[in-house]
Amino acid sequence: MRALTLLLVAACGGAPRIPSPRFANAPPVEIVNDRRDVAHRPGERVFFQDVYNYDGLVQRRFTRELELHPPTRARGVNALDEAPDSTWFTNRIGVRDLSTDELARGPNTLDSPEQHKPWTVTSTKTGGAEVGFMITDARGEKYLLKFDTRGFPEQETGAHVITEKLLWAVGYNVTEDSVVRFRSEDLVLAKNAYVRDSEVDDKRPLTAEELAHRLSRIERSSDGSYRALASRMLPGVPLGGHPAEGVRDDDPNDRIPHELRRELRGLYTFAAWLDHGDIQESNFLDMYATDPVVENCHYVEHYLLDFGKSLGVFATTGKDPRRGYDYWFDPTAIAGALVTFGLVERSWEDRHHDHPRGVGAYDAASFDPDEWRPTSAAYVPFTTRDRYDAFWATKILMRFTREQLHAVVQTAQYSDPRATEYLTDTLVARQRATGAYWFARVNPLDGFRIEHGAVCFDDLALRYGFTAAATTYAVASFDFAGRPLGASTAPASGARTCTQALPLGPGPDAYTIVEIATQRADYAGRTLVHVARDRSSGEVRVIGIWRP
Ligand SMILES: Nc1ncnc2c1ncn2[C@@H]1O[C@H](COP(=O)(O)OP(=O)(O)OP(=O)(O)O)[C@@H](O)[C@H]1O
Ligand SMILES: [Mg+2]
Repeated sequence: MRALTLLLVAACGGAPRIPSPRFANAPPVEIVNDRRDVAHRPGERVFFQDVYNYDGLVQRRFTRELELHPPTRARGVNALDEAPDSTWFTNRIGVRDLSTDELARGPNTLDSPEQHKPWTVTSTKTGGAEVGFMITDARGEKYLLKFDTRGFPEQETGAHVITEKLLWAVGYNVTEDSVVRFRSEDLVLAKNAYVRDSEVDDKRPLTAEELAHRLSRIERSSDGSYRALASRMLPGVPLGGHPAEGVRDDDPNDRIPHELRRELRGLYTFAAWLDHGDIQESNFLDMYATDPVVENCHYVEHYLLDFGKSLGVFATTGKDPRRGYDYWFDPTAIAGALVTFGLVERSWEDRHHDHPRGVGAYDAASFDPDEWRPTSAAYVPFTTRDRYDAFWATKILMRFTREQLHAVVQTAQYSDPRATEYLTDTLVARQRATGAYWFARVNPLDGFRIEHGAVCFDDLALRYGFTAAATTYAVASFDFAGRPLGASTAPASGARTCTQALPLGPGPDAYTIVEIATQRADYAGRTLVHVARDRSSGEVRVIGIWRP
């Protein structure tokens, strides 16, 4: 991995006026090289759901408490507090504009298997409660076919593609999936097709009768066709999901404990927005992949999969309105209900299900961006997360325009146009609730640049219209040691403001720390912007951001 840009250097002589950190005078790291060859294939992790949940809820939770971990900021961030590109994450909408076509296509590199029939059924899906098949399309591409729960048409398949595409646009690695339609005559049974319901079962032949029986459990449209979610098999060798805590011991590229990774802690904020509560090890998948360019180079890539329970679908298909509000087993909620004799109203009690066809119990009125709960408490990055992770995620999340969200929702192909409108409206409303909440908990300044000797920045609370209060920025500059160089004030000039030209610190680096304190009736907070002169070009540039 490239040298960390962030240098923690204590300034000399007593308590410094401006505390650590100081930053290396270097451009921020934008890509991490965690694609170095891993000659020995890491082992496949076996997932035991009950052990995972028991461990996450009881044993490990307890022992972690005893270990007295102090709150620790995320690692794996660059000097600008951003997550660089890696095998976990690729910055997309956070750093560039995506067209609606690009968003609707998402991660898909091939056209839909719908254009490539017939499909050869090679096996049934292993694991999970619902019907599923493995198919090979007429091109030879392999897909997992999954279906909507009976009685809840279009819900799981629709939620799956929407959440998958939005998480891809954010930057996560996801499967290449689409909503497809087919008729029973589009299916051909492979000669050696088999059934295997669970990992511990033996394989037995899949007969035409059994295929017909399984198809009969799936909702069929009045025209006789079936709707499905086709998930293209990921390239490489599957290694199971990543551990919720620590690293994969047999992957030398995996060096930051997962509970400290910014993109995994920040995932909470996106998962809350999308009500993607089915976060557990089996819904992550690490693949031992071959580098597309460098011959004989293999490494692990980290994927998210299985998004069909998001957007309130877990609550409807699981007939459990608590999903997204309490953990599936939640001792705190149980104790609270016991002590209050169940008299305190719970936010999930008012969730109404009266939505258009295809839509789950997804609403904005009862949404709290910091109190949302996944089904299992076992995913440690969601318990170590802090407001800086949420701020990072919220900056990315706010970049989606309504038009872009609408384009993604359309790919769910809901039969009722009101479903598309309702989900677009609700995604926007939950996006705004998220922005209003987190931009009031971290100084919402970002996009720092040096222009004509001044620091210019965006105030995201003003940019997205979360406040209209009169805003002033108190600006103070310090040298490397934290000695004052000068101070001024700048009234907000719309969403983007520039300070006065800065006095710079001494020496060839001209290292200067600029404290920008936002002052308005509804908020006060500061950000430290570190700037220095690039010795080769002579240009003064931002080399680090610290949000106290
Ligand atoms: N596109 C894919 N590429 C490779 N493997 C996949 C893909 N989709 C699913 N899988 C594998 O199949 C398993 C089950 O898929 P998925 O999680 O989508 O279904 P499920 O109904 O939730 O089943 P389960 O309860 O086992 O999670 C995953 O844990 C993963 O190992
Ligand atoms: Mg799953």
